[in-house]
Amino acid sequence: MKEIGKIWMNGKFVPFKDAKVHVLTHALHYSTSVFEGIRCYDTPKGSAIFRLPEHIDRLFKSAKLYSMKMNFSKKQISDAIIKTVKESKLKECYIRPIAYYGYGTMGLTPTQNNVDVAIACWEWKMGESKAGKFSGAKCKISSWIKIDSRAQPMKAKAASNYANAALARMEALDNGYDEAIMLNYHGKVSEGSAENIFIVKDDQIMTPPMSAGILEGITRDSVIQIIEENGGYVIETDLDREDLYAADEVFMTGTAAEVKSVTQIDKIKIGDAKPGKITKALQKTFMDVAMGKDERFLPWLKYI
Ligand SMILES: Cc1ncc(COP(=O)(O)O)c(C=O)c1O
Repeated sequence: MKEIGKIWMNGKFVPFKDAKVHVLTHALHYSTSVFEGIRCYDTPKGSAIFRLPEHIDRLFKSAKLYSMKMNFSKKQISDAIIKTVKESKLKECYIRPIAYYGYGTMGLTPTQNNVDVAIACWEWKMGESKAGKFSGAKCKISSWIKIDSRAQPMKAKAASNYANAALARMEALDNGYDEAIMLNYHGKVSEGSAENIFIVKDDQIMTPPMSAGILEGITRDSVIQIIEENGGYVIETDLDREDLYAADEVFMTGTAAEVKSVTQIDKIKIGDAKPGKITKALQKTFMDVAMGKDERFLPWLKYI
């Protein structure tokens, strides 16, 4: 990892290499942290953070679901994110705010410990997302079932959700795939390990509903709004594994992945095993929006 700029910790900037926590930090032992993944794009009119208020809202919602008392307001965190990016001098980057139960008392109950907040950013160039962005990813249906909100709040972007996701991701990579797709306890499609999923069948675009136990993805919402604004629609419906196999196109959405084509699932080729026309069109439209080239969506960009 390139150590660029400074990391904001509880209101102060510290050098990247000194941004440390105590080994008895509650979150390290019990996974009691919530976080965000945000992108800043190098647009023709300068650096712009994509859908910052929506990410801040989700961070605070996640914190609430874990009874975290935030010591900072939404405005303070938003300003701190902008300052962290400016401090880094990076034109385009990935931004990671995290709120976590810190060091204090040790034991399962976190609530007497301080909720610490940190914000880091690191270099992330456009189109740098891993496998499959342009060639099409190969995905494996995971043997790990997606945990659901009977166990813990899945609408929180919480570290604790990601042990499940990391197991699925590792299994997929170990088996020669690029990414995992997880089914939920009902056997329905939920999402990728770090992306929402869509299919195209007979020109209809479908995606699992929130009730499938998915993260309320901000890119998912962006893509749905873009499609609607362009006169189309997305059907939110439960999908079976065979709907994936039989789809004409499959694509995934996420802050890191942006719009990523999926051309193989298990040993089955999707469509003609090349990124499909609707996926390619959406990739272009989404990047135009992120680059500030589409007037209709300019309010999604916070120029810094
Ligand atoms: C499990 C999961 N689903 C979906 C997404 C996509 O969410 P967003 O578009 O807000 O990045 C992510 C992103 O990190 C994720 O971790």
